[in-house]
Amino acid sequence: MNSPKIMVKGRPKGDTYYKDTARKYEEKRKKQAWWHVEQEQMSQLLDQLPDRMSVVDIPFGTGRFVPMYHKKKFQIAGLDASGDMISSAKNILGSDFDGIDARVGDAASLPFKDKEFDLLVSTRFLRDIVVFSVAKEILREFARITKKYAIIQLGHNRTTGFVPDENSPMGGWLSENELTKLLNGYGFEVMEKRLVLEHNEEGKDIYHILCKMAP
Ligand SMILES: C[S@@+](CC[C@H](N)C(=O)[O-])C[C@H]1O[C@@H](n2cnc3c(N)ncnc32)[C@H](O)[C@@H]1O
Repeated sequence: MNSPKIMVKGRPKGDTYYKDTARKYEEKRKKQAWWHVEQEQMSQLLDQLPDRMSVVDIPFGTGRFVPMYHKKKFQIAGLDASGDMISSAKNILGSDFDGIDARVGDAASLPFKDKEFDLLVSTRFLRDIVVFSVAKEILREFARITKKYAIIQLGHNRTTGFVPDENSPMGGWLSENELTKLLNGYGFEVMEKRLVLEHNEEGKDIYHILCKMAP
């Protein structure tokens, strides 16, 4: 496995994904109905994109979309702050893990070249795991390394919403309009959104957002 030890800047909020949590991550999440909705919606979005692209998945987690990337004949890279999550991915994926450039690192400071990948994928991360100020640093890094497309999971409010506190996770507080403006500000142009979780009582929904990169 290619997993150089890179110092993680500060302590990421999501620094709990180690040991047993990492080992049981996918087994537990598969019991959530929306995990399967995310899988189906990701598969449908990927089907619309060209084959044989390079993809980077951050945070890689257990590599849940890897079989879909193989189906598309993508060249695959991933990065996660937790080496234990990458080990878990290796165990779950078996030979599907072969040839993947999976690295330990911090999404806010990526060890990749500008425009290195055709597609960036990021799920269950920017909305809840890091605080808003860090989510914006990460969006800047994502935009730097992506050439053509991104599928980023984020949430927005059904009403006017409000700007999240810089030191809290952004959750689904932004309005749809403000979220689009945020993405546009980093060069992500929204092509299509797929609802993956409905939060009726809070008025907040979660989407896989397919974007193309501004030229
Ligand atoms: C909820 S999991 C999501 C994993 C995967 N994307 C998914 O959809 O199942 C959050 C992941 O973020 C990773 N993580 C937390 N902070 C990070 C950071 N600053 N840089 C990279 N990965 C981070 C954790 O180790 C964990 O694997």
